[in-house]
Amino acid sequence: MAVYNLGSIHADWFYKVPRFPVNGETIPAANCVSGLGGKGANQSVALARAGAEVHHIGAIGGEGVWAAEQMKSAGVDVTHVAIQIAAPTGHALIFVTPDGENRIVICPGTNRMIEASDIKAALARAQAGDMLVMQNETNGQVEAAKRARARGMRVIYSAAPFDVTAVQAVLPHVDLLAVNEVEAEQVAAALDVPITALPVPELLVTHGPRGASWHDLKTGETLTVPAPKVVAVDTTGAGDTFVGYFCAGRDAGLPVAECLELAVAAAALKVTREGTADAIPSLKEVRSFLAETPGAE
Ligand code: RIB
Ligand code: NA
Repeated sequence: MAVYNLGSIHADWFYKVPRFPVNGETIPAANCVSGLGGKGANQSVALARAGAEVHHIGAIGGEGVWAAEQMKSAGVDVTHVAIQIAAPTGHALIFVTPDGENRIVICPGTNRMIEASDIKAALARAQAGDMLVMQNETNGQVEAAKRARARGMRVIYSAAPFDVTAVQAVLPHVDLLAVNEVEAEQVAAALDVPITALPVPELLVTHGPRGASWHDLKTGETLTVPAPKVVAVDTTGAGDTFVGYFCAGRDAGLPVAECLELAVAAAALKVTREGTADAIPSLKEVRSFLAETPGAE
């Protein structure tokens, strides 16, 4: 089947800092690099590297064509990435400390200017059983989810970054919600229900270095996969890598346990590398990592 991803595209600017600056403080970075990022683009690249057929729906500014080109070289169909001249391509300022932790500020730019007509045109080619993946860095999620469901598609929503208004509007149209532990608490608090009673059929929760779990909220079935131990260099984009790999596995019809195992391993491998989209491993790399890592299987 195919995966359609309504998603953000960013120019990521990385600043490797000895520590995060405090109020009023100026510090030099040890190293500064830029590359392709954005939760949407990262997930599309992860989907493609995991072997899925992926069609990205998004918008860039005229100066952001390099980003679409880079997605294309990673195997992502960018036919439905529009050029919007009214704003700059979205970008992100990312501070990374020596322990691999990050703090990020994003400038949405064109990511919030995706036209309803582009969403409609992109999804017009989708088939029943195809997947729609979305996050919270674009506009248009409710519109896209309604169209997708009307076509018999499965809707996957990664509620990152957390946004209470978006979650309340989008969740009724979703088949699987993907969150980290903090977002899980935030979504449950926003809806005033326990996490296990969220109004969504399936829930996927990442637990950072402890792995991830999948919950069928109708039957109560739960699967948990621990993460292989790695030395964290940069955790940026690990969650996106996880979501992309999990969705690719589901799209390929793999059992949920295997999807989880591949997704957890792909995210762990990403954490050992600096950067975002560029640092997302291929399926071949993930499979050999699983074979070589003691305790990973
Ligand atoms: O999840 C990581 C991503 O968050 C980065 O690539 C950055 O662009 C922000 O969107
Ligand atoms: Na992430």
